Amino acid sequence: MVPTESIVIEGLSKRFGLQEVLKEITFSVPKGQTYCIIGGSGQGKSVLLKHVMRLMSPDRGIVKIDGEEIGTLSGEDLSRVRRKMGMVFQESALFDSMTCLENVAFGLFMHRREIPRKTILDLAREKLRMVGLPVSVEEKFPSQISGGMKKRVGIARAIALAPGILLYDEPTTGLDPVLAASIDELIMKMKKDLGVTSLVITHDMNSAFRISDRILFLYRGEIRFSGTPEEVRTTSDPLLSQFVHGETRGPIPVLSDETRVS
Ligand SMILES: Nc1ncnc2c1ncn2[C@@H]1O[C@H](COP(=O)(O)OP(=O)(O)OP(=O)(O)O)[C@@H](O)[C@H]1O
Ligand SMILES: [Mg+2]
Repeated sequence: MVPTESIVIEGLSKRFGLQEVLKEITFSVPKGQTYCIIGGSGQGKSVLLKHVMRLMSPDRGIVKIDGEEIGTLSGEDLSRVRRKMGMVFQESALFDSMTCLENVAFGLFMHRREIPRKTILDLAREKLRMVGLPVSVEEKFPSQISGGMKKRVGIARAIALAPGILLYDEPTTGLDPVLAASIDELIMKMKKDLGVTSLVITHDMNSAFRISDRILFLYRGEIRFSGTPEEVRTTSDPLLSQFVHGETRGPIPVLSDETRVS
């Protein structure tokens, strides 16, 4: 039976030295839905996303992808599960020495060796078109294109292997509002056209409200609030409200454990 949860995270904890970055994180993302993780800088968002890909291993807790626990996998089994996921990194993380087309084709060359070179390049071109990039970008190197274009190349690379799950680390940060909205459209298109499950980290509340089925607020390594966009918009949690509305209503919240909502 195919599980209805694409991503399951249970009791995930991670510390770096004395710093406890993730504390008993538990949530799951149903197949075909888009969940956003919001939270301030340094709250553990990127670390959490890296655990989903198993680019990091937890101290405690588990991650399941399509019902399969990834912590115990290695070699070809781990590669097989990783291929179900595409990741758009916070800093695009494109290979500087490759053209944009080669960047997008790279995963296909690595994992789909049976496909002829020309077909792979055609597939990569198709992905660049899908994210709305012009033909002129294909032969350019990442250093020769704008930040917004790099984000799009990063998305094209993430979707190249047609993954069922997409992980985005701040896909709209640093983009102007029009470009940010177009990236949101792209994320929603992936969901609608390809039925992908998405986990998106963002600071951008406009984006979170637009694309999310559910929003999780990460604060000091814990999920402090989880709700629909409407529940987040009307929250009475002072810290979340401050984050969402960029202002405080009433007294300035004290950033201490006493204010934590159980
Ligand atoms: N490999 C690592 N080794 C040690 N500490 C790390 C490592 N990766 C992250 N950290 C620490 O974990 C904390 C959370 O980092 P993380 O990158 O997840 O933050 P974030 O919520 O993504 O922040 P931002 O919004 O600024 O990207 C930070 O204090 C960071 O310094
Ligand atoms: Mg981050």
